[in-house]
Amino acid sequence: MQTKVWAHRGASAYAPENTIEAFQLAVEQGADGIELDVHLSKDGYVVVAHDETLERVSDGTGRIVDHTLAQLQALTFNRTHPDFSRAKMPLLEQVLALIAPTDLTINIEIKSGIVLYEGIEQKTLDLVKAYHMQDRVIYSSFNHFSLMQLRALDPSVHIGLLYQAAMVDPHVYAMHLKADAIHPFYPSVLLGPGVVEGCQKAGVAIHPYTVDNPAHLVALGEKGIEAVITNVPDVARKALSR
Ligand code: G3P
Ligand code: CA
Repeated sequence: MQTKVWAHRGASAYAPENTIEAFQLAVEQGADGIELDVHLSKDGYVVVAHDETLERVSDGTGRIVDHTLAQLQALTFNRTHPDFSRAKMPLLEQVLALIAPTDLTINIEIKSGIVLYEGIEQKTLDLVKAYHMQDRVIYSSFNHFSLMQLRALDPSVHIGLLYQAAMVDPHVYAMHLKADAIHPFYPSVLLGPGVVEGCQKAGVAIHPYTVDNPAHLVALGEKGIEAVITNVPDVARKALSR
């Protein structure tokens, strides 16, 4: 099995993260999937961005949750890549519309760790269902209660457990929660004894983040993991096809 390449916030090394431009570039670079992060605007729209706040990536200030959709869409999201003078914050719906005609997977990360967005799980499920993309979406979150909430709302969802610390026997926890996958910070997959073997025996997929170093990509590919989440889909594709 060839390890899949999922573009982290789109092809975010080359275009502003979590924008249509970055997702379009990921498609063009031959990614097998995209990863993105979702929040709710003040008026309840599911929007795509990483941080809870606007300063790092846009010309706005303050929290997403304190802005209406119209206010958010008036901002420019090119602070990391100034050449992209038209980059906007997309709605999740706009990204679904972009990806629906392709065969890419979407990893939707629910950002519910700092601001607890009331109803974000149901709203996200409804949008994915409206685009008939349930089988192409895997949900992840550092807030595993959000993932349990998603499954309570729809028992057929695919879920991946995000975590950063090096965890011993993560497959045991994944099996306990009946998760489809783990989404670990990648060094623990390379260095943690038994992580890959345990998951492979248990049928738990491994989707580590964020892997940009070609040597590390090759090493993960040799371990037979299912997908890597990377800022550089072109580099990952090349490294994994060696
Ligand atoms: O989903 C993998 C990765 O995106 C998790 O960390 O902070 O980049 O959202 P972060
Ligand atoms: Ca993320």
